[in-house]
Amino acid sequence: MDFNGFGDFGEEDRVIGRQKQFSDRDEKNLRPITLDEYSGQEKVKSNLRIYISGAKERGESLDHVLLYGPPGLGKTTLAGIIASEMGVGLHITTGPSIEKAGDLAAILTNLNENEVLFIDEIHRLNKSVEEVLYPAMEDYCLDLMIGKGPSARSVRLDLPKFTLVGATTRAGMLSAPLRDRFGIIHRLELYETNELMEILRRDSDLLGIKITDDGLKNIASRSRGTPRIAIRLLKRMRDFALHLKKDSIDKEVSDFGLKALDIDSIGLDSIDRRILMTICDVFGGGPVGLDTLAACTGEDPVTIEDVYEPFLLQNGFIAKTPRGRILTKRAFEHLGQPVPSGFLEKTTITGE
Ligand SMILES: Nc1ncnc2c1ncn2[C@@H]1O[C@H](COP(=O)(O)OP(=O)(O)OP(=O)(O)O)[C@@H](O)[C@H]1O
Ligand SMILES: [Mg+2]
Repeated sequence: MDFNGFGDFGEEDRVIGRQKQFSDRDEKNLRPITLDEYSGQEKVKSNLRIYISGAKERGESLDHVLLYGPPGLGKTTLAGIIASEMGVGLHITTGPSIEKAGDLAAILTNLNENEVLFIDEIHRLNKSVEEVLYPAMEDYCLDLMIGKGPSARSVRLDLPKFTLVGATTRAGMLSAPLRDRFGIIHRLELYETNELMEILRRDSDLLGIKITDDGLKNIASRSRGTPRIAIRLLKRMRDFALHLKKDSIDKEVSDFGLKALDIDSIGLDSIDRRILMTICDVFGGGPVGLDTLAACTGEDPVTIEDVYEPFLLQNGFIAKTPRGRILTKRAFEHLGQPVPSGFLEKTTITGE
């Protein structure tokens, strides 16, 4: 389903899915527009500040920027901030929507000097389009073929200097020549609880939602380090507050709401727990390959890898070994299951 260019929605009914969902459609109203309003990602921000002020002082376009990291961490938001901090216009498109080389040529020739072109899901550009992009990024020109057969000739068209901001959740799928043409490459990291609290505080003010510090902390610490999930939970908790006839989201409301949504004390939902339980019960803690795990849990391998796994890995619930995924001691403890005898020795040998 595509809603006003919002792309494909996934995981429709999963409150803590990172992918964009229908209920996030008003997301753009909450997007910060300056680097100061953008919480967290301190390293990325401080570097960008330096690059942006340098480019502005020289009166040049900013070098091309590649942003990568899991969904919902603020890549699209940051692209908008780069344009507004540079004081230039922003053009937005996505990799899969540029079908032919001619489509990209039309977009590029419409840009003004120093403007930002944002290409979301840039790993999904097709090869022929990508080839048009190389000279455009490197030399700010387009090589067009005019005519066919023996009379065909190539014409070089100059483009205004522009900044390409590419975003992807899968940096590994980007071709090497494309990746090499970005001068600035940043990975966005999962957010800390206090950073998410800052984001939630700002957004609850904007949305006119009353929330206590306890409530903020409760939601932030169970949002898997992801602003999109935190904002979505905030909106759901507003309904639970109404249901409980409370005028603000406090500890009690958020505990009640999060329990109703089946989100546990550290932010795992029923699908995460199913993945962990499957590795525990069916495979004795692992190792298990991604495809086998996907088949046993009824999930798509790509979704497991992109959406569930980053959080489970980062929080030390699973580990990757050369032979597949294994559970950690922490996961067994969280599931309340005993660690099988000999398991830890076995996994140490496989290279955890
Ligand atoms: N650092 C931040 N500070 C404040 N709000 C943020 C921040 N990062 C993200 N958000 C909010 O989170 C929501 C999702 O962010 P965004 O759409 O930019 O994520 P994304 O990385 O582009 O996701 P996707 O990979 O799905 O495209 C937005 O509503 C945005 O306002
Ligand atoms: Mg985005």
